[in-house]
Amino acid sequence: MNDMLTIALSKGRIFKETLPLLAAAGVEPAEDPETSRKLILPTNRDDVRLLIVRASDVPTYVQWGAADLGVAGKDVLMEHGGEGLYEPVDLKIARCKLMTAGPVGFTGPANGRLRVASKYVKSTRAHFAAKGEQVDVIKLYGSMELAPLVGLADIIVDVVDTGNTLRANGLEPMEHIADISSRLIVNRAAMKMKSARIKEFMSLVESAVAG
Ligand code: ATP
Ligand code: PRP
Repeated sequence: MNDMLTIALSKGRIFKETLPLLAAAGVEPAEDPETSRKLILPTNRDDVRLLIVRASDVPTYVQWGAADLGVAGKDVLMEHGGEGLYEPVDLKIARCKLMTAGPVGFTGPANGRLRVASKYVKSTRAHFAAKGEQVDVIKLYGSMELAPLVGLADIIVDVVDTGNTLRANGLEPMEHIADISSRLIVNRAAMKMKSARIKEFMSLVESAVAG
């Protein structure tokens, strides 16, 4: 369906914060993903549909052309690597920081290598490699804050906003790795094949971000 624009995004924070930007581009979802069980959401426009996918799967749908466009956090994009994608617009939504964090007052492991738990394995390795520090990285899929509390790891790498989650678990932020926000991503082939429509959509979204 070459006349259809397909946009992949995750429900929750990204969906909510993308809604006003979609509205500025004249797109309104016909259903609410929090209550609908549908994974393909129609919109007020016959030629635009939304795919509801896991946050970390958004770049994959766009890379393979199953979606023309997507909205993904920079944290997710750094892990994905960005193959097959353009990343033309910083939407400045879902802002947070990728950080290392550990138990309050933590200064280093008693012996052996530092053990770091994260779902951001690639960014974690890159961060410590850049410092010339050899660490063991333990892959998790969520609830990273638990790992240092039960001896699975010394510290974690996770996104931090208010710091409330860290504080509630006796942890504190340590090193800043990257500022994170969500990006509009575009499939490379779609950018050529649907150039006019995608550029129009992008410029409406860009104006909404600037405004
Ligand atoms: P999944 O459901 O696949 O595990 P997730 O739980 O990370 O993904 P969300 O919590 O919706 O998905 O986060 C989506 C994006 O929002 C993240 O990739 C990150 O860029 C950003 N983000 C995560 N936590 C926060 C936060 N507390 N404040 C602001 N932005 C955040
Ligand atoms: C995210 C992230 C941190 C927390 C940081 O979790 O995984 O745990 O936010 O935010 P804070 O510094 O303001 O506490 P989220 O609340 O999105 O839950 P989920 O990703 O596990 O659904």
